[in-house]
Amino acid sequence: AADCFQRNVLDGVRVLITAGPTQENIDPVRYITNHSSGKMGFALAEAAAEAGAQVTLVSGPVFLPTPDRVQRIDVVSARDMLAACEAAMPSDILIAAAAVADYRPEVVAPHKLKKDPTTGDGLYLQMVRNPDILATLAARPDRPFSVGFAAETEHLLDYAARKLKDKNLDLIVANDVANPSIGFNSEENAITVIDRQLQQTGFAQTSKGKIARQLIALIAARYAAH
Ligand code: CTP
Ligand code: CA
Repeated sequence: AADCFQRNVLDGVRVLITAGPTQENIDPVRYITNHSSGKMGFALAEAAAEAGAQVTLVSGPVFLPTPDRVQRIDVVSARDMLAACEAAMPSDILIAAAAVADYRPEVVAPHKLKKDPTTGDGLYLQMVRNPDILATLAARPDRPFSVGFAAETEHLLDYAARKLKDKNLDLIVANDVANPSIGFNSEENAITVIDRQLQQTGFAQTSKGKIARQLIALIAARYAAH
């Protein structure tokens, strides 16, 4: 059947996958997050497990069932996600599908914030940069074969190629999130994978499950050849 294509291509290979959004607390009842559903990362975890991999899935808050034979670790913030990934190392392959919040509030208020009449109608929230999980893991001496995603609304392939180089990745998956029928919250995706030689491989729009299998097949082949 179509879904037993390449069942053993990742036999015994350790695959670490990040998925979903992260949540960054403002106070005990409020947080900042994004529209990531986690569907692509979970589909990749399922496809990698089907291909025989030992999969660790580090997920931000999502509403999805854990795929069979996948070890899932739930996290909330970007810093939690980095710590969970570091604890899951070493790994042979890293696939960073999470939509990590780039910034977090500098301080988390210990109590629920009250509207403050002295500041007028505005609320000024000081934000600081979160660690880059993918770049951090790809810079380790025991760096895994590293695959990133680039979600862009413009200059897709240029920005993706820049991220591949800046983060020292093996592959980057370029994803046009300006197109509402693919990417973030949709059921389908269409992607272009770019390698270190800037060679491109395109996958036409289809379900995230099918894209995930195609992508896992490509990653397995490139990992075996690297
Ligand atoms: N990523 C990560 N940790 C972060 C930010 C991003 O691991 N703090 C990973 C994502 O999981 C993705 C890749 O880096 O695989 C690119 O994420 P993206 O948000 O597209 O790029 P950024 O490097 O954050 O750059 P910018 O948002 O400014 O375009
Ligand atoms: Ca970002």
